[in-house]
Amino acid sequence: MADGKVYRASTFAPVNIAVIKYWGKRDTKLNLPTNSSLSVTLSQDDLRTHTTASCSTSFTSDTLTLNGQPQDISTPRTQACLRELRQLRKHLESKDTSLPQLASLSLKIVSENNFPTAAGLASSAAGFAALVRSIANLYALPASPTELSRIARQGSGSACRSLFGGYVGWNHGSAADGSDSVAYEVAPAEHWPEMRAVILVASAEKKDVSSTAGMQATVGTSALFKARAETIVPQRMKEMEDAIRGKDFEKFASLTTRDSNSFHATCLDTDPPIFYMNDTSRAAVRVCQAINETAGRTVCAYTFDAGPNAVVYYLAADEAVVAGTFRGILGEKTGWEGSRGEKVEKAGQVPENIAGSVDTLQKGISRVILTGVGDGPRKTEEHLC
Ligand code: DP6
Repeated sequence: MADGKVYRASTFAPVNIAVIKYWGKRDTKLNLPTNSSLSVTLSQDDLRTHTTASCSTSFTSDTLTLNGQPQDISTPRTQACLRELRQLRKHLESKDTSLPQLASLSLKIVSENNFPTAAGLASSAAGFAALVRSIANLYALPASPTELSRIARQGSGSACRSLFGGYVGWNHGSAADGSDSVAYEVAPAEHWPEMRAVILVASAEKKDVSSTAGMQATVGTSALFKARAETIVPQRMKEMEDAIRGKDFEKFASLTTRDSNSFHATCLDTDPPIFYMNDTSRAAVRVCQAINETAGRTVCAYTFDAGPNAVVYYLAADEAVVAGTFRGILGEKTGWEGSRGEKVEKAGQVPENIAGSVDTLQKGISRVILTGVGDGPRKTEEHLC
C-alpha cells in the first residue's frame, strides 16, 4: 500500500465546564481521578476544537498542529491515546484483511480552537476529545463514546466528558487499570435545553499553574482535600444528578457555586497556595450574589476552573436579569450576540450596593461569550488539511 493516498476524517468537539470539579489524581500515569465529577457540555457553535486526522504512506512521522503552531506529539499522554487507537484499528485489520493497513501509517493531526487556548476555558478537554474522536472516525472504529472517553481521559482528564453532549458525569472508577474510569450521560441536552451560560473572559493569557501541576500539589499538601474527595464530592454527585434529572435550577445553582468554592478552597489550602481566582473573579461572585438577591430567588450560579474566567449558568427565561445585568455593567464588550442569534439587551437593574465590584469587572473583563448546553462531537466534511 505505497500509493500515497491520504485518508482523512474531521470532527468538531465541544468544551465542557464542570459543576462538580475534578481535582486530584490517584494514578498520574493512567490519569485516574481521586473523585468523580460532572459537567455541562457547551454549544460547539460558540466554543469548539475542529480537528482533522489524516494518514498516508507519504507522511514520514506523526505530527500535531494547533492553531498553525507545531505541537509536541511525543508527550506520554498524547502517545497513550495514539497507541490505544492504533491497537483498536490493528484489531479490526487483523479480523478483516481487505481493510487498508492504516494503523501502521504516520498520522497528521491538525486542530484549530475558536477560543483562547489555555486561558482556563477547558481547551485541553475539547482538544483531546477532538483528537480521539477524529482518529476513531479515520480508523472507522466501532467504539462507543464511553470507550473513547476512556482513551481521551488519558490525554486530559476533563476531555473524557467532552465525548458526550448535555449533562455528563465521569465516574472515578475503582479498577487499577482504569477500565471503569469513564464518562457517562446523565441527561442529553434536550432534557434541559434552557440551560445557558455567559462566560466572562478575565484574561486571555496562559494560566500560571497548569491543572496537572496544581492538582498534584493539592493532593500532596492540602488537608482539606481528603474530606472533599472522600465525603463532600460523592454526596454532591448524587444531589447534582437528581437536580439535573428534576430540572431543579435552585439546587443545581447551589451545588455549582458551593463546589466551585470548595475546589478553590483546596487550592488556597495547597502549600504554597494556588490562586486561580483574582479580584475580577471575586467581583463576578459579588455581582452574581447581588443579582440573586435583587431577583429574590436564585437565577444564576457561578463557577471557576483553573483560571480567573467566570462561567455563569442561568436559565433562558432569566436571560434579561442575568446576562442583561452583566451587559448593563460591561457595556459594549464584544460577545453580546450569541451564535443562536439571541441578542442580550442592556437590561436588569445594576444593584446599587456593589459599585466597587462593578468598577473591578468593567476594568478586568475583556470580552464575554454567550453560550448554552449543547450536543456531543459532530462529524464534519470540512477538512483542515
Ligand atoms: C479545574 O482535565 O485539565 O477544569 O487531567 O491533568 O489534563 P489533566 O487536568 P484537566 O483538569 C481540569 C480541572 C478543572 C475541573 C474540571 O474540569 O473538572
